Amino acid sequence: MADTNDINTFIEPYLVPDGSKELNENLKSMAASFAVTDDKIREIIIGFHESMKTGLDHDDDNALPMIPTFVRGRPTGKEKGTYLALDLGGTNLRVCQVTLNGDTTYSLVQQKFTITQEAKESHLWDFIAECVGVFLEEHGLIPAPGERTIPCGYTFSFPIFQTSISSGNLSMWNKSFTVPNSVGRDVVNLTQSAFQRHHVPVEVVAVLNDTVGTLMTSGYSHPDTQMGIIFGTGTNAAYWERMENISKWKGEDRTGEMVVNLEWGAFDNATRVLPYTMHDNKLNRKSPNHGLQVFEKMISGLFLGEVARNAILSLVDQRLVFEGQSSEIMNKSYTFDTAYMSQIVADDSSDLHVVKTVLESTLDILPTTLTDRLVVKNVCGMIGTRGVRLSAAAMSAVLLARPELMESEISVGIDGSMYQFYPNFEQDLYKVSRVFLGEDFVDNRLKLHLAKDGSGVGAAIVAMTVDRDRSI
Ligand code: BG6
Ligand code: GLC
Repeated sequence: MADTNDINTFIEPYLVPDGSKELNENLKSMAASFAVTDDKIREIIIGFHESMKTGLDHDDDNALPMIPTFVRGRPTGKEKGTYLALDLGGTNLRVCQVTLNGDTTYSLVQQKFTITQEAKESHLWDFIAECVGVFLEEHGLIPAPGERTIPCGYTFSFPIFQTSISSGNLSMWNKSFTVPNSVGRDVVNLTQSAFQRHHVPVEVVAVLNDTVGTLMTSGYSHPDTQMGIIFGTGTNAAYWERMENISKWKGEDRTGEMVVNLEWGAFDNATRVLPYTMHDNKLNRKSPNHGLQVFEKMISGLFLGEVARNAILSLVDQRLVFEGQSSEIMNKSYTFDTAYMSQIVADDSSDLHVVKTVLESTLDILPTTLTDRLVVKNVCGMIGTRGVRLSAAAMSAVLLARPELMESEISVGIDGSMYQFYPNFEQDLYKVSRVFLGEDFVDNRLKLHLAKDGSGVGAAIVAMTVDRDRSI
């Protein structure tokens, strides 16, 4: 088995046999800069623990936000009823009618709306109201005059500082959303006002992060769920923490547990321990939230392709690939989609014909040699491997923060496009975390589950606990 504490393990597989000395020298230093050895992961885990501890104690710009979510009751699987749920992810808005059957199963009628660029930049609240209006209309859910408004759980996949289970102020936008006049304001109020403007008879009774939704969804089917994670357009996690450890909680009842939203995308923005490269820096410098969400930018679907594009272009600029010629498409930011990386990394054909199609037909780079294609595959491999290893580091850090839980079987609910579509993502998460969490625990007690159907179900569960006597 490869020694994952030896930097050469992260360099040698990426050199190209027919490449020039100069090309291989460049690949060598690039691979070294993206390498995440076991010792590096140990450092990251220590950094995570310090940052989690500070964030639980007080709000601090240099620490993880560790946001108390007001969610205190674990799902039992016995919850029953039909609820409306809105699930605003990084790419899609889902409107769902969720039926919890009371026996750990559920069914769901949902409509998915791709969030338009215009909505991301300006009219998000009206866009949401319009989509909900369409859903209610199409599914015959509009209440008769005089009937009460429909209670709804709202999954909101951006950082909000919650002031109650049904309110929270937006701390910032990320994942390329930039809707004006929203930061610092209550997102439930903003949504509710749009509902009023559009005559949508819905009342948000609970708002939760998508990681909390994922945690609750997984917990409904697997009551031993301790953590919910999103590896998607963005990345983040939520976990059950003992109230006595949440020192910054000002509320009265300090018994039991509460779900804490880590907002781990904000880990180590100062890049003290993260393997941050010039290619990350190039992305970061141009980003609307420059210097923020640095960890997220090294891991998640929105950004990995862009880091790879930057790295490939650095080789083009030195005339080491594509005879020094890029294309108009490749020169534009964010054109090298992370989905292409997945296809490229999975291409095991001898002539790398999938890589050829992506480069030549999609990105208009002509012509490519087999060496060019292998270089691109290897660059994508380095960046993808770094992403998976950092993902495993973060998951391990959170589980190690509650070691007593690791004595029993535990489930982790996970959702998002990276987890679902990046080649071998789940398998690699298990493999990497074995080193830090122990083989016995990972092989016998840790279960990673795809929290299917998104976090809409979680929103319905939380809405139900808030509003037990109301059902649609
Ligand atoms: C969805 C969840 O399935 O996954 C959302 O329901 C979540 O709440 C999303 O935000 C994350 O995945 P992606 O890849 O769309 O960011
Ligand atoms: C971003 C958001 C976070 C969300 C994550 C995954 O990191 O800040 O709230 O959970 O994306 O969608």
